[in-house]
Amino acid sequence: MCGIVGYIGHREAWPLIIKGLHRLEYRGYDSAGVALLNGNLRIYKKAGKVSELENFAADKDVSGHIGMGHTRWATHGAPSDRNSHPHTSGDDRLTIIHNGIIENYATLKEELISEGHVFKSDTDTEVLIHLIEEIQKKTQLDLREAVRVALNEVVGAYAIVIMSKDEPDQLIAARKGSPMVIGVGKDEYFIASDASPIIEYTKNVIYLNDNEIAYIKRDELLIKNLDNVVKTPYVQELELKLEMLEKGGYDHFMLKEIYEQPRSIKDCMRGRIYPDEGLVQLGGIKEYAEKLKNIDRIIIVACGTSWHAGLVGEYLIEEFARVPVEVEYASEFRYRNPIITEKDIVIAISQSGETADTMAAIELAKEKGATIFGICNVVGSSIPRLTHAGVYTHAGPEIGVASTKAFTAQVTVLTLMAFYIAQQKGTISQSKLIGLLSELDQIPNLVEKCLEANAGILKIAEKFKDTTNCLFLGRGSGFPVALEGALKLKEISYIHAEGYPAAEMKHGPIALIDADMPVIFIATKNSSYEKVISNIQEVKARKGVVIAIVTEGDVVVKEMADYTIEIPDADEAFLPILATIPLQLLAYHIAVLRGCNVDQPRNLAKSVTVE
Ligand code: AGP
Repeated sequence: MCGIVGYIGHREAWPLIIKGLHRLEYRGYDSAGVALLNGNLRIYKKAGKVSELENFAADKDVSGHIGMGHTRWATHGAPSDRNSHPHTSGDDRLTIIHNGIIENYATLKEELISEGHVFKSDTDTEVLIHLIEEIQKKTQLDLREAVRVALNEVVGAYAIVIMSKDEPDQLIAARKGSPMVIGVGKDEYFIASDASPIIEYTKNVIYLNDNEIAYIKRDELLIKNLDNVVKTPYVQELELKLEMLEKGGYDHFMLKEIYEQPRSIKDCMRGRIYPDEGLVQLGGIKEYAEKLKNIDRIIIVACGTSWHAGLVGEYLIEEFARVPVEVEYASEFRYRNPIITEKDIVIAISQSGETADTMAAIELAKEKGATIFGICNVVGSSIPRLTHAGVYTHAGPEIGVASTKAFTAQVTVLTLMAFYIAQQKGTISQSKLIGLLSELDQIPNLVEKCLEANAGILKIAEKFKDTTNCLFLGRGSGFPVALEGALKLKEISYIHAEGYPAAEMKHGPIALIDADMPVIFIATKNSSYEKVISNIQEVKARKGVVIAIVTEGDVVVKEMADYTIEIPDADEAFLPILATIPLQLLAYHIAVLRGCNVDQPRNLAKSVTVE
């Protein structure tokens, strides 16, 4: 996902923009660039990391109090210097940076070429700035109007910032389907894809809405929509704190976020559970309590790790609320013409709140009349603005591309939702709920105990860091945990890993088992424990190497597995949270031992805002 930073005010723009781009590196990118304006327009851009851009510009003129910067995650046009942003108009008067996709760029490009425009890059972004130039040439409109007219011709998603040599005191920003935050300072404004580049300068922010354009000068901000109607800016105060964006002494954001889970799960539950009364309160969906009482189907849409959380949610909601749940990949759901009615509730799960496929799935379900709940982590992101209601996970900023604390927070919210719906439907007794909530209240302490196994997990990681394949097996809610463990390992260590229902082995995958295939079992004491033991024996009989996540004190599995990692005993409902912790640590240590870029794995972005 691309990153955008803009600044206008009394400070030197270059250092502020570069620092902001570093804060956005977690989003994943392949090139970076900056445009500065102080009378003359200067653009420095190249493929590679932000630090390489800094070296490239070390001996150049980087003065100026207005500028913008961009980290590019390639969509149209390979990663290269010429495809990096910012891009300029044909007459080099205008410049633009862009996050998103202009879907009708090919048609627009053809028309512009027929008007004599010559393009320097393969990007859709360059087409947009040439379109603005062409509109100005044809209509003599000023830049503000030309931008608005051009955006009315654009199909697709964008978060853009535009500058003009002729107007060195103005930034123009606009968004549709891609995130953009405006920081409000004293005689200065900041623009960014999220709050992380802004938070150290101001807590006062405006989340630009879709189809809005912001015309920004040092001491003036005007927001209009694409129909030229003035909009009143809504200034919010950020809850984010700067130290939440720092590594806090950890080697990687991912490790910091793994260790933050006792706190993030506690924050996620704060104000929502009352164990003594056997009460769950979810203010974000309480107006739908009546609908939930009579609900007869829930559909969960998500991608990646969030989809795995949805699978855990299916087990929990069906177990406690006795409501049928279907879990769908958002990318499949949106193109399948699904059967949805106004009786359905669709739950969209997304850490970033910006995933394009999940957003499209929401729009489709909404069109068909469903009620949409969101489970998101980033406050003010796009998905919470699309849904009818929702529950924030409150896990705090998750910088590492591999999702960890967001996953366990999502599962925590789904656990609360399962109990909440069960409460509405009367499918759970008060005494049972008191018992479960009392235990759930202790889960952050049990997660702390899971983290104490870190040293032993590192030793296991040292033995398997060179493996080329790995299988993760689990049953019941241990199956989505197996999927999540496999995804963690493959996305940060580049080892091919697969998650499977343990019982599924005999239908084919068992052919893969030999002495070179490490098999990780979720073998905790739960309703399918005995069956998993049989599966472990099947693997051992074929010389497979077994690593087992076991309930502390388990001696049976310890006898047969080659390695075991203990987690505290807990009600089966809470095992997915606990069993995931060692898998996160195992993936992390293997990736570090392999010298991989743990926080920014190759080819990946923190949020996939394109299709
Ligand atoms: C998980 O580790 C990955 N980074 C990825 O699968 C992620 O979960 C997926 O892209 C969905 O992102 P979202 O939760 O922000 O929608």
